[in-house]
Amino acid sequence: VNASAQGPERSLTRKLGQLFVERWRRVSPDTIVVDRNLAAAPPPFVTEDWIAAAFTLPERRTSAMRDALVPSDHLISEVRAADVIVIGAPMYNYGMPAVLKAWFDQLARIGETFTFDLARGDWPIQPILGGKTLVVLSARGEFGFEKNGPRERMNALDPGIAACAHYLGVAPGDHHLVTIEFQEFKDARHAASRAAAEEQVGTLAESLSRRLIAQARAAA
Ligand SMILES: Cc1cc2nc3c(=O)[nH]c(=O)nc-3n(C[C@H](O)[C@H](O)[C@H](O)COP(=O)(O)O)c2cc1C
Repeated sequence: VNASAQGPERSLTRKLGQLFVERWRRVSPDTIVVDRNLAAAPPPFVTEDWIAAAFTLPERRTSAMRDALVPSDHLISEVRAADVIVIGAPMYNYGMPAVLKAWFDQLARIGETFTFDLARGDWPIQPILGGKTLVVLSARGEFGFEKNGPRERMNALDPGIAACAHYLGVAPGDHHLVTIEFQEFKDARHAASRAAAEEQVGTLAESLSRRLIAQARAAA
């Protein structure tokens, strides 16, 4: 899932995504990869009609309501089919690119990706999907957005994705983050950050791929 507005020649997050797939395929060459390019085909924003459709029981929906949910149905089916979801998520104005927020908004659907029941008390939302692994490949121009970093309080990106990860069926322990920093400084710190991220992405792709193969063997 690529959210950068830039193409593969310039985008650091797209390059990390390509590297992830390349290293994954070294271990598991037959893996099916679905490329969801959010910049090329931005998901629609949530509208009043969309909300009305989503909160109407499927059997009561009009054909206009069903039409309003087609993009959401399609994006949810991609996530449902995935074992691993890799998101290329640049930091834009301290948060998610709008296309990525729109993607999450289309995915969070009552009866499809979560249920809501006040009988559960203060935590009425329960995810429907489960067992997926999330890899977030991020890049940012500045630095220090990590826990206890100098810009931690400005980071609306990583916590925003983490908060929505349950809609994807991802438990907190199955959420991995690799980040390139200092892009706007274009200095040695950026080069070091990029090299470290590439190293991490390669290792992560191979280890997750091996783990998935082992799980599949154990289940067979
Ligand atoms: C519209 C826009 C907004 C940005 N906002 C921020 C920001 O708030 N903080 C930051 O550290 N970098 C910011 N940057 C820098 C990007 O995060 C950085 O260039 C990153 O490499 C972009 O990802 P990409 O290389 O995959 O396109 C912004 C860049 C753009 C184009």
